[in-house]
Amino acid sequence: MKISRVLVIGGAGYVGSHFCLFATKNGLDVTVMDNLSKGYRSALRCSEFIQADLLDYDNVLMRFSEHKYDAIFHFAANCLVGESVLDPAAYYRNNVISAYNMLEAMKATGHDKVIFSSTCAVYGYPKKLPLCEDHPKEPISPYGRTKLAIEWMLEDYNKAYGIKSARLRYFNAAGCEPDFGLGEDHRPETHLVPNVVRFALKLSDELTIFGNDYPTRDGTCIRDYIHVMDLADAHLKACARLDTVPLIRFNLGTGAGFTNLEVVDSVKRISGVNIVPKFGPRRPGDPAELVADASAAQRDLNWKPTRSDLDSIVKEVIKWFSTCPQGYPS
Ligand SMILES: NC(=O)c1ccc[n+]([C@@H]2O[C@H](COP(=O)([O-])OP(=O)(O)OC[C@H]3O[C@@H](n4cnc5c(N)ncnc54)[C@H](O)[C@@H]3O)[C@@H](O)[C@H]2O)c1
Repeated sequence: MKISRVLVIGGAGYVGSHFCLFATKNGLDVTVMDNLSKGYRSALRCSEFIQADLLDYDNVLMRFSEHKYDAIFHFAANCLVGESVLDPAAYYRNNVISAYNMLEAMKATGHDKVIFSSTCAVYGYPKKLPLCEDHPKEPISPYGRTKLAIEWMLEDYNKAYGIKSARLRYFNAAGCEPDFGLGEDHRPETHLVPNVVRFALKLSDELTIFGNDYPTRDGTCIRDYIHVMDLADAHLKACARLDTVPLIRFNLGTGAGFTNLEVVDSVKRISGVNIVPKFGPRRPGDPAELVADASAAQRDLNWKPTRSDLDSIVKEVIKWFSTCPQGYPS
């Protein structure tokens, strides 16, 4: 089925706003629903914006009744691992209950297709690398558990009510589209690439690498960085795939891992700034290495990352922070 009108929940946030840009460029009519708790009005790339909170079921139901969307893309969540350990209730509420509200509103209004942002945090400590989709799911943080709980909900809603779903497990989302006014601006920012770039550009005073005694080539953690526009491409391909396979899940990564210090080196080379990070203790629950086996997505979705080269990502992030040193206007 050709899709033309889509609803993007969480489309004012980092990954969601890039998806909206990609979808718009691909000719889709995009409506965003966001409560702006973490997103920005100036990151909106859509024809219609609905300011609404997924936790407000009556409002969500009313909004879903107003239009028929060909597919719903769900990016809305709290996503800080450390914060989820300190305040799991907020995570079960804003992630699980709000996803439940979305599914109930879909059921009540005849919407039957959802593409959900999941995470490699559903796997927990890797028993085997690279991580494939069948790897045991033993999440170690409340954040990862809420995402896995939603994945289970999606399976059950498919079996019982026929709601089709794609669960896309991202590794480390990175990169941006500075030429289209889009960047990465989480507050607080916990992601390595923007933090190293901000330090290099003297927009922050301190850069801490957590742990330099991991069993990796230079002692720092290894992560798999995937460009947000490659993620966006996979979302549209996964949406199309739901026409033939109603319940799918894919890892989205490049399969290549970079250590934290390799990321620092890339920023050093490209910015010309000599960066000297501090080393702090390991963060609880941070595995030494997280790298995707994304061969299933490559095969079944005919998807291939084309924007995820680390140096290119770093160049874009430097460009974004050079243009918008304070990020988006609050
Ligand atoms: N960024 C990453 O590296 C990464 C990795 C794996 C998975 N993910 C997942 O991708 C999704 C997007 O991540 P992001 O980095 O863009 O996060 P983000 O915080 O930038 O965006 C989330 C958006 O959802 C909105 N939102 C949150 N709760 C809402 C609610 N109750 N009702 C309506 N809107 C709400 C926020 O205002 C924000 O605009 C999340 O589900 C996250 O778990 C992200």
